[in-house]
Amino acid sequence: MESRPYLVLDLGRPLPEMDRSGVRVARDADLPAMAEVMTEAYRGTVDDEGEDRAAALAELRSTAAGTHGPPLPDTWLLAEEVGEVAAAVVCTRWQGLPFVAQAITHPRWQGRGHGTRLLLTAATVLRAGGETRLSLIVTRRNPAHGLYRRIGFTEVPWPEGT
Ligand SMILES: CC(C)(COP(=O)(O)OP(=O)(O)OC[C@H]1O[C@@H](n2cnc3c(N)ncnc32)[C@H](O)[C@@H]1OP(=O)(O)O)[C@@H](O)C(=O)NCCC(=O)NCCS
Repeated sequence: MESRPYLVLDLGRPLPEMDRSGVRVARDADLPAMAEVMTEAYRGTVDDEGEDRAAALAELRSTAAGTHGPPLPDTWLLAEEVGEVAAAVVCTRWQGLPFVAQAITHPRWQGRGHGTRLLLTAATVLRAGGETRLSLIVTRRNPAHGLYRRIGFTEVPWPEGT
């Protein structure tokens, strides 16, 4: 079975100031465009489950409805490029901590810092709201694992009882 570590970012540490141009909070009306980004982002990756756009939209809607813990709407963030959704980060609360439920960048816009920018913007928003840690789960073989480590996430034991 795939190794899927649980990672936590300490929000007490200094976070670099992020350029927030083109970044905004997602609305319900953005979910279809986010589903498109999600479908394309996972295609051919270690986490590709063959989801089509309809399945991705259903997943996002169920995340918005609380399937992965209560959503934290201030941290449902999008980055736009030439009027289209290029990347998104979606956080919920899971096991008492803010949790990155989705981090996706359309392949056309990958490697340009959107993922880093959105994650660090969400972290900054959460810290301003009094949160102390941000958590996530990632497949070890997913290149995003390296990205999270570079940002400062560290591996900790999974929460008890999960
Ligand atoms: C993970 C993901 C959101 C990163 O988005 P991004 O906007 O490309 O992120 P950044 O530009 O800030 O950082 C890119 C990092 O990935 C590497 N990378 C990934 N795809 C790349 C690409 N197409 N071109 C260049 N670099 C790429 C970069 O080298 C960099 O790695 P580093 O931090 O070790 O130097 C994106 O690759 C993605 O959507 N992946 C598929 C969905 C997924 O698995 N999400 C994570 C689930 S836990």
